[in-house]
Amino acid sequence: QELKLSLEQIEKGGYEHFMLKEIFEQPKSVHDTMRGRLLVDEGVIKMAGIWDHIEKFKNANRIIIIACGTSWHAGLIGEYLIEEYARIPVEVEYASEFRYRNPIITDKDVVIAISQSGETADTMAALKLAKEKGAFIYGICNVVDSSIARITDAGSYTHAGPEIGVASTKAFTAQLTILTLIAFKLGKHNGNLGNADFMSLIAELDAIPKRIEDVLASTNELVQDIAKDFVSTTNFLYLGRGYNYPAALEGALKLKEISYIHAEGYPAAEMKHGPIALIDENMPIVIIAPKKGHYDKIVSNVQEIKARKGKIIAVVNKGDTQVSAMADYVIEIPETSECFSPIVASVPLQLLAYYIAVYRGANVDQPRNLAKSVTVE
Ligand code: G6P
Repeated sequence: QELKLSLEQIEKGGYEHFMLKEIFEQPKSVHDTMRGRLLVDEGVIKMAGIWDHIEKFKNANRIIIIACGTSWHAGLIGEYLIEEYARIPVEVEYASEFRYRNPIITDKDVVIAISQSGETADTMAALKLAKEKGAFIYGICNVVDSSIARITDAGSYTHAGPEIGVASTKAFTAQLTILTLIAFKLGKHNGNLGNADFMSLIAELDAIPKRIEDVLASTNELVQDIAKDFVSTTNFLYLGRGYNYPAALEGALKLKEISYIHAEGYPAAEMKHGPIALIDENMPIVIIAPKKGHYDKIVSNVQEIKARKGKIIAVVNKGDTQVSAMADYVIEIPETSECFSPIVASVPLQLLAYYIAVYRGANVDQPRNLAKSVTVE
């Protein structure tokens, strides 16, 4: 039998789609993003881009993060990280809004742009504006030597490797990795993150690739099974609190992008201000409920959903009982400090979107109407 492999098949490395390959690459891409930067034994985070401009960060009145799409979701988590650990005020803005609203920017501001492609037109324009107004501009890009990487004063590349699937997966978790490193580094430097906490957090961060590997191994088949029940669903809600509120937004975005099912992400407590009106036995609700991070509050949110007969897909820590008892589907992830939970929780949500889309026969790697790199407004 003749062995014919197209270049594309080779590139997919045995996976049916690039997206699945990229989801499975995350232990490596997160590891690669930390490599040479996170030196656990020495108790050091080495990031030349930050260190060479440490005074800028130290004296910053605030940090403004600008991005679009998935990168904007990473930015929201960056806000939680930097404010918690470095205690520097952070604002996160859609690049497209920022650039057209005559924003107040001074030379005391540090602007961080997050962009996988480094070519997004709105992000680029927002950066140019910030630069003109005297801000120090920093880039977190995946594509080396991209336009955004070149225009910024300094930056850190996410070493996720080429991302082909239009729906961003490994670039997102790599962005979270960089933002975590930045938050810890700034916090250690400005004294807001004490040495003991710093040491234990970096040791935990170092083990995150292994945690992702465990999650992939333990949830892939389960999520594939769960997905079968939602092939004909028309709506989804994703809820989370704290660090996992942006993770809920990102989970919903993945599903929308590739399966064309309408999905909304919401902070769980905001449910009562609107989305709760939508809940009935036909509404699946993905709820991210790890032990660390407002767990008791989430329990009461889940009770409210249960009372209205919503179908609950719960992402919980191993050994969870309270939320699991109320859930229709339970996906277990390992327990981590709250700040790492979006990385770990995102993996099964990526898989859920992926399998639902595959069962619906959608073109997962190239969803309709979407582009990998949006170089026009
Ligand atoms: C497009 C892509 C998304 C991406 C967004 C921002 O919409 O399809 O996956 O998150 O642009 O792109 P960037 O390259 O700036 O991160």
